This record gives sequence, structure tokens and C-alpha cells, in this order.
Amino acid sequence: MDHSLPPDAPAPDAPILFFDSGLGGLTVLGPTRALLPTASIVYAADYAGLPYGQKGDDELAARVPALLGRLVERYQPRLVVIACNTASTIALAHVRAALDVPIVGTVPAIKPAAEMTKSGVIGVLGTEATVRQPYVDDLSAKFAAGKTVLRHGSPGLVTGAEAKLRGEAVDPAVIERAIAGLRGQSGGEKLDVIVLACTHFPLLQQELQAEAGPDIALIDGAAGIARRIAYLTRGQSWPAEARPGIAVFTRSAERAPPPLAALAPYGIGSIETI
Ligand code: DGL
Repeated sequence: MDHSLPPDAPAPDAPILFFDSGLGGLTVLGPTRALLPTASIVYAADYAGLPYGQKGDDELAARVPALLGRLVERYQPRLVVIACNTASTIALAHVRAALDVPIVGTVPAIKPAAEMTKSGVIGVLGTEATVRQPYVDDLSAKFAAGKTVLRHGSPGLVTGAEAKLRGEAVDPAVIERAIAGLRGQSGGEKLDVIVLACTHFPLLQQELQAEAGPDIALIDGAAGIARRIAYLTRGQSWPAEARPGIAVFTRSAERAPPPLAALAPYGIGSIETI
């Protein structure tokens, strides 16, 4: 039997590259590591561009493919995960057109939310850029026809999630405003499922759940994305043992990378800036 790899098979240590504007993509990295524990990891955060949710669509449609192009050249990943709803809903098609590597995007979990709701009212909590995307209209029309889909954009939750991961305090008013932004809309009193449509938000799951109360379920797409990554890389070779991953941050005058200790639970062992 021939054990040699097919010519285009990735080398065992070829990494999976996770990409987000900041630390939110760690919520996708976590479940992926649980499925592929020895995979080499590069976690890239565009701190020079954070927050994406406050940027225009055209800017992101140009910025994300250009930056990912640099990162792919530098790290030669076997697969790229755009672990950011804002970048995915705006730039996924542009990235796929520009790069010759498999790309997995992050889509708001409207489909499972629509299957789960009993009241027929679901909420989508994302960045301001994500909640205004026609992509969200399309998902709602396709998977939540006949249901009410309320949307609210919360930039404060992105700041709060970044703070929490660094061990800093989260402003409780930000959490209250995010939930009230959905509940206060017409039909909001019947809300029973909230989609966390920004990868930063599951970092604040506990705080958001406490504010929403026990009758509202919070869901996100991370576990499904992890399964998709495992599926797309099935049959590929992996290192025999896990080695520490790399986190790379685009250089920002306002924001330094977090302490390595905050990233270590996600298997990250070193930090680079580009
Ligand atoms: N984590 C990102 C998302 O999933 C965006 C946060 C931001 O940069 O505004 O939408």
C-alpha cells in the first residue's frame, strides 16, 4: 500500500488560520481545538481595524481580503476560518474570489434559532454592520419565514468582551442596553431565543444570560463551524502532539495585544505583531 500523501495534501503541521478583528474568534477556536486537539493554530486579530462593526461595507470588502492575502502568504494555512460575523457577511465572497485556500465563514445562527423558538420571536444581536446586512434579510426569509426576527447592533458588547478577556471589568449598563435593545422593540416581550451574531458575544454569555433571564435561550454558531472545519479537513494528517499556537495582531497605536496568559487557555504560546 502506498502511504505517500497526495501531491496537494497539506503537511501535518500546516496550520488552521483563524481570523477576527479582535479576540472574538477565540470562541470559534475553542470548540475547534476540542475536535482537532493537535491542529497547528495561527490566530490572527486585526487590532488596527477593530471595531469592524463601525466600519463601512466597502472598506471591509477591501481590507479583509487584502489582509488575509498577506496572512495566507506568511503562514501557508491549510484552511482559513473567518471567525467574525461582520467580516463574513460583508467580505466572504471577496475573500473566496481572491484566495486559493478553503475558507470557512461565520453565519448568524438564524436557522437553529428559528427551529428552536416557541413564541415565534427571535432576536439577532450583532455588530451594527452585521445587523444591517441584506445577508441577514436573506437568512431570515429562507429559514425564519413567518417568524419575527428582531435585530440590534451593540458595539459596546465588543468592547466589553475584549475587556473581560483581559481580566478587566465589564460595564453592566452595556449588557442591560444590549438586551433592552431587543426586548424594547415591538414583539420583544415574546422573545425566547437570541442569536449571538458576533463572535465576541459568547465571551459575555454569562452576563447576557443573567440579564436576559432563564426564559430566553442564547445561541451561537461556534460548534457548527467547528464541525464544518473538521469535516473539510477529514482525512488530512495532523501533528502527533499539540504544539503551542501563534497569535498575530496587526499593529495598533491604541491597543496592545492582551497578555499571553489570557490566550494560553486557547493553546496560544506566542504573540507576534505585523
Ligand atoms: N467579532 C466580530 C464579529 O463577529 C466583530 C467585532 C467588531 O470588530 O466590531 O462580528
